[in-house]
Amino acid sequence: MRAAVVESFGPADHLRIAELAVPEPNDTQVRIRVQGTSVNFADIKARYGQYHGGKQPPFVPGLDVTGTIDAIGRGVQTLAVGQRVIAFPAGWSYAEYVIADERLSFPVPESVPVDVAAACPIVSFTAYALLTRVARLERRETVLVHAAAGGVGTTAVQLARLLGAGAVIGTVGSEAKRAVAREAGADHVVLHSDPNFPEEVRAITQGRGADVILDSISGSVAERSLQCLAMYGRLVHFGSSSGESGTFEARDLHASCRSVLGFSLGTTRRERPAFLAPIAAEVLPYLADGRLEMRIGGRFPLDEAADAHRFVESRQSVGKVIITVDSQDGVSEVRSGRQSP
Ligand SMILES: NC(=O)c1ccc[n+]([C@@H]2O[C@H](COP(=O)([O-])OP(=O)(O)OC[C@H]3O[C@@H](n4cnc5c(N)ncnc54)[C@H](OP(=O)(O)O)[C@@H]3O)[C@@H](O)[C@H]2O)c1
Repeated sequence: MRAAVVESFGPADHLRIAELAVPEPNDTQVRIRVQGTSVNFADIKARYGQYHGGKQPPFVPGLDVTGTIDAIGRGVQTLAVGQRVIAFPAGWSYAEYVIADERLSFPVPESVPVDVAAACPIVSFTAYALLTRVARLERRETVLVHAAAGGVGTTAVQLARLLGAGAVIGTVGSEAKRAVAREAGADHVVLHSDPNFPEEVRAITQGRGADVILDSISGSVAERSLQCLAMYGRLVHFGSSSGESGTFEARDLHASCRSVLGFSLGTTRRERPAFLAPIAAEVLPYLADGRLEMRIGGRFPLDEAADAHRFVESRQSVGKVIITVDSQDGVSEVRSGRQSP
């Protein structure tokens, strides 16, 4: 089978197409003939050797897929050959075949198109878990989503609305992305590159600040976010796309009753896989009836996985960039290169 392999840590040209053996499922796994996968920011971090759940080269990157089950292990009870699924595979996703644990594979509602299924697993499960399980969003609370034009960002903005948030504020890194965050449903959009963004957020919220802040950027953006987190607010740290860390002080939390929380879907898949089934049961209906949309910002065939990485890394992409793998098997359209936002 064909797969995209990171030959050594480094830039996108270290990602090359190679021939690998088709993997065999163990007793509790299924094998999936892949139709589509997606670029997650963690794939780029992994290629540089900077992802907390990363591997040593050579390795195939990728975290999520959609496709059809073509083999099952003896102990698999809830899934069958021929079933269409989304999954978080064991090991990789940029390949023609993957294996995945039964507990991390979920039937796709029929109404969900292939490219939406390819785009949705990581971003929809993560954004839904962040809002409902980690931040415990309550109705009418104000939510601030950093990097709101990106994959997780456009999904979290929509889900915040669907879950009954009051005002939704998005931040973006450039003027060009403002419209994308607004289209996703943000009432207000501010630039996180402006060090005065906390003042702007306080002005929007009549001085209170946001009740929930989803931060995947880290560094100074995380530190400044605390300046616009409301009393009893929850700041959830779940990524470091800036490549920086960031420091919080204990005294910023106690008297104001505010919390800083962390979450990783990767760690949760490994340590608490049973966490995912209820998330699937709750979030997939939003995709099935179209209330939650995937903003597809680009489609690349597997052979051009390196270009897909370059596109996301350049910060020009919006929404999700998907990688189409099997054009013979129903993938809507395989088109090389970016699509305009
Ligand atoms: N914890 C989890 O389980 C989990 C799961 C999925 C994703 N994540 C994290 O969530 C974030 C978003 O992931 P995604 O896959 O949806 O990616 P994405 O948002 O589509 O792309 C990353 C975005 O980060 C922003 N950014 C800010 N500073 C950056 C920098 N120095 N270099 C590059 N980008 C920068 C850019 O938006 P602007 O140009 O608007 O700043 C960029 O578009 C990532 O940090 C990722 O690691 C975490």
